[in-house]
Amino acid sequence: MCGIVAYLGQKDAYPILLKGLYRLEYRGYDSAGVALMQESGIKMFKKKGRVEELQKFCENLDTSGTLGIAHTRWATHGEPNEQNAHPHVSEDGSMALIHNGIVENYVVLKQQLVNQGVAFKSETDTEVLVHLIKSVQDKEGIPLPEAVTIALRMVEGTYALAIISTENPDQLIVAKKGSPLLVGIGDNEYFIGSDGAPIVEYTKQVVYLEDGDVGVISRDKPLRISNVNDSERLPKSPYIQTLELSLEQLEKGGFDTYMLKEIYEQPKAVRDSMRGRINLEKDVVSLGGIIEYEQKMLNARRFIIVACGTSWHSGLIAEHLFETLVRIPVEVEYASEFRYRNPIIYEDDVLIAISQSGETADTLAAVEIGKKRGATVIGICNVVGSTMARETMAGSYSHAGPEIGVACTKTFTAQITVLALMALSLAKKKGTIPMSLYHKLLNDLETAPEKIESVLRQEQKIQRIAQYVATKQNAMFLGRGVSFPVALEGALKLKEISYIHAEGYPAAEIKHGPIALIDTNMPVIVVAPEQHIYDKVVSNIQEIIARKGTIISIVNEGDTTVSGMSKFTIEVPGIDELLTPLVTTIPLQLLSYHVALIRDCDVDKPRNLAKSVSVE
Ligand code: AGP
Ligand code: GLU
Repeated sequence: MCGIVAYLGQKDAYPILLKGLYRLEYRGYDSAGVALMQESGIKMFKKKGRVEELQKFCENLDTSGTLGIAHTRWATHGEPNEQNAHPHVSEDGSMALIHNGIVENYVVLKQQLVNQGVAFKSETDTEVLVHLIKSVQDKEGIPLPEAVTIALRMVEGTYALAIISTENPDQLIVAKKGSPLLVGIGDNEYFIGSDGAPIVEYTKQVVYLEDGDVGVISRDKPLRISNVNDSERLPKSPYIQTLELSLEQLEKGGFDTYMLKEIYEQPKAVRDSMRGRINLEKDVVSLGGIIEYEQKMLNARRFIIVACGTSWHSGLIAEHLFETLVRIPVEVEYASEFRYRNPIIYEDDVLIAISQSGETADTLAAVEIGKKRGATVIGICNVVGSTMARETMAGSYSHAGPEIGVACTKTFTAQITVLALMALSLAKKKGTIPMSLYHKLLNDLETAPEKIESVLRQEQKIQRIAQYVATKQNAMFLGRGVSFPVALEGALKLKEISYIHAEGYPAAEIKHGPIALIDTNMPVIVVAPEQHIYDKVVSNIQEIIARKGTIISIVNEGDTTVSGMSKFTIEVPGIDELLTPLVTTIPLQLLSYHVALIRDCDVDKPRNLAKSVSVE
């Protein structure tokens, strides 16, 4: 959460910072701010709301300066307003700081600083950092980089920081623990970003800071990095990597919104996540990233899948894939619950963490627990070079390309694709899958992109159904077996972008309570493709119709039974039951999208949310 961008170089910093903020806005968007180093000192501009508000505010103001820091916030401590917006400054205005993360011991630190006479201006945890650093520096009479190091040793929690100070107007200090931070190295200039988005336009040479790193960036000098845990602050040699991101991937490409673009990118995303991983001639599926640990996976006592949100839904689908095909027991856990439960983990367990961003704090904490307890820890994530990619022992990228819309769409179907490939590869080696089924599933995976395309062609029809759903206050999504996680995902999409209250349930479970909600006003969206329990789903639908619920169904082409019981039907092409989520998810994404548009919601930046949940 929160976007951080900073610049030090020869050019005017403000346009670079502003563009960077726009590119990072998906990470947080309740307020934004910039601090620029000018001859007269540090100049600050902050505004509540979107980056656009900040831009308008700055239009006729002096935004000169070749060193600056900027921030777009997702509030954790203190409501979104101008006071709480970053940057935060020292009392004398000589130092400005931006922060992504949470200072967990901020109450204690704040009290100490208040006792020293510091007057706080905001309700944020972040403000503690700027006063703490300043107080250390004043007391010890030491240069800023040293003061930052000493101060950060007192801080508990997570941070990505960028700091400027009039003490040295040609210096930018950055630091990281738990929240991501990249330094882009240009020609006599440096670009800082929470991810590659604000950097890629200028350079592809980047250094990913590691936890505890403090980086000192000075004009005309190479980047210097040391670590807070090293008492001697010995310099580390920066490891320069190539940023795997292109500018084109970050633009809307003719679509009105990122979300719609990303929905339409799914055939490509699914193809890309299979690319190079299936060799039909040799009849082999192979995920290069996990080969080294494949034996451990094959001998695993159990798979524990940890994830949050949509990625957790992928985990539930993986449970079906792994248990059916590989015959290894699977537990799927919310990472946030798992990490605080003192879970039982055996050394022959394999913990699989799933995350689009690879930065979700709870999922990363679960990864650490898995590693500490001796399990094999595998990651599935989308963002190349993310913390998860670096912290897991091995893993596979979902290769969906950058996803900017806050609601996950293409990364969900790409995750399912990777999980299916993983299950197929393991099942064949373990001998737990009949070869006829193996070949059928491979063939169905290969044709999935075309099938997704054929669902996308029904957008207009789905738009009409959206007109109906948009008038409702509530909706229920039902499915059974592998369609249950799809129902959960459908409900999540609808609530997060259209703000209609929605629940996802296993279809048979509603008679244990939720059926009380059914009346003529309750649209019930049933995910009912051909599956071995299709008839059971039909009975569950009967129970709803008997109570005057309105059925909207997702069925296979040519279906007559469920479609005959539905007010609206969307048909999807047939595919093996285990892979149905790849096609049944698509109409639910489009439905939520159009309901949200009709209700005039910002689909790319839904209220209260952020793309990357890097705080717990
Ligand atoms: C869903 O549309 C959301 N973007 C959210 O539930 C997301 O899946 C969750 O925050 C986990 O994120 P991750 O995959 O990046 O770990
Ligand atoms: N804790 C800081 C604030 O509330 C930063 C929030 C974040 O990183 O999401 O301002």
